[in-house]
Amino acid sequence: MSEPNGGTFDVVILGGGSGGYAAALRAAQLDLTVALIEKDKLGGTCLHRGCIPTKALLHAGEVADQTRESEQFGVKAELIGVDMAGVNAYKNGVVSRLFKGLTGLIGGSKNITVVNGAGRLVGPDTVEVDGKRYTGRNVILATGSYSRTIPGLEVDGQRVITSEHALELDRVPASAIVLGGGVIGVEFASAWKSFGVDVTVVEALPRLVAAEDEESSKALERAFRKRGIAFKVGKPFEKVEHTDSGVKVTIAGGEVLEAELLLVAVGRGPTTANLGYEEQGVRLDRGFVLTDERLRTGVGNIFAVGDIVPGLQLAHRGFQQGIFVAEEIAGRNPAVIDENGIPRVTYSDPELASVGLTEAKAKEKYGADKVKTYNYNLGGNGKSQILKTTGFVKLVRVEDGPVVGVHMVGARVGELIGEAQLIFNWEAYPAEVAQLVHAHPTQGEALGEAHLALAGKPLHAHA
Ligand code: NAI
Repeated sequence: MSEPNGGTFDVVILGGGSGGYAAALRAAQLDLTVALIEKDKLGGTCLHRGCIPTKALLHAGEVADQTRESEQFGVKAELIGVDMAGVNAYKNGVVSRLFKGLTGLIGGSKNITVVNGAGRLVGPDTVEVDGKRYTGRNVILATGSYSRTIPGLEVDGQRVITSEHALELDRVPASAIVLGGGVIGVEFASAWKSFGVDVTVVEALPRLVAAEDEESSKALERAFRKRGIAFKVGKPFEKVEHTDSGVKVTIAGGEVLEAELLLVAVGRGPTTANLGYEEQGVRLDRGFVLTDERLRTGVGNIFAVGDIVPGLQLAHRGFQQGIFVAEEIAGRNPAVIDENGIPRVTYSDPELASVGLTEAKAKEKYGADKVKTYNYNLGGNGKSQILKTTGFVKLVRVEDGPVVGVHMVGARVGELIGEAQLIFNWEAYPAEVAQLVHAHPTQGEALGEAHLALAGKPLHAHA
């Protein structure tokens, strides 16, 4: 019996998350016909279970903190409580408005056919969905990632949860242990503390957010200490037991911690199992799809984008890779994406934002004596004083060369990353940035002043 035919397209995309839908929209703009296959909702992890809802949660936390701390600004207010139903309604409202916009955008494109269902790669140019075959002159794998756990640690969704469950909590827990002091771990620790949860973070590595510059980790740890967020670093998890009221977690050294919940945030694994990838000859490494720098898998015209490709698992990387592959397919020969030029923001309180190399990585690459750094303290920045935030802008440069790393800590510094990424990606010299006028008083001025100082002409700082 022959399979019913789903049709032939220029591009068949498996997965409608950040990477997949960006590829679909760009391909459609370039007059390519697209089948976009998605088993759940268009928008994927970032929109429904990741970036967007977590940042809404963090913003609700910020409102709670500002209410608690309003007296510092001479404003009398009292925090009566955090109503999770209300927080969730706000969060879900944000997600559903964005989802509506996205489905409208995709639905409005005559070149995109959305296929609802679970797809499987059954040939180098074919994806099957519910018995129908969709053939693509090109295929893009964009199946994203899932919350990993560690062997022997069972997630039950009640007491031992992942970030997906944490986003759906209908109550504010009294206490929580967060396993993993990476990005997800510190963002939830931060939001929960703002809601009044007694939080402890457990991290195996010697510092929180270990991928960031060491000074950023230290500043976050100082701020967490001040906020009363407990953390244990250099302490791998050993075991968890259920108690009458929650969980009992044992960590390296035998210390036992108790709490109502355990959030497992030990990384995200690529969703690539049982999708036919290996059968078609696509090479995997620990589940990640191996590609060349043009995101080709080496099998037929199969490409891969987003969290299944080794590297930073960030939505904006997925968007850019999706756009890149669409342009590659259309013969536009796009420039290869530089992973170091991808900005990174952690939306905890305080925020962390960085682009380029850490001081340690720069020293490895250029030699310790060739790397210069400058740390501009936000204490000298008027707007940061007004906001009562502390932190810094740290620049890493090559001696007599460009800025190769920017690392920032403080409230709202995530919004400064746009300028920092231009500085890095345009290989700017401190003296060139020092020439640009920054509005006063803004936090962006701190970036300007750091470059003034590094160029040897500090204004509100020492050289
Ligand atoms: P992660 O890789 O950032 O952090 C996981 C942490 O868990 C690591 O520090 C690791 O050392 C620790 N860990 C692993 N096993 C452990 C054990 N047995 N005991 C104690 N600690 C252990 O992964 P995370 O935070 O789960 O985030 C997943 C991905 O999602 C990341 O790639 C991240 O970039 C992305 N994401 C990005 C956000 C942003 O850009 N703001 C927000 C949230 C997630």
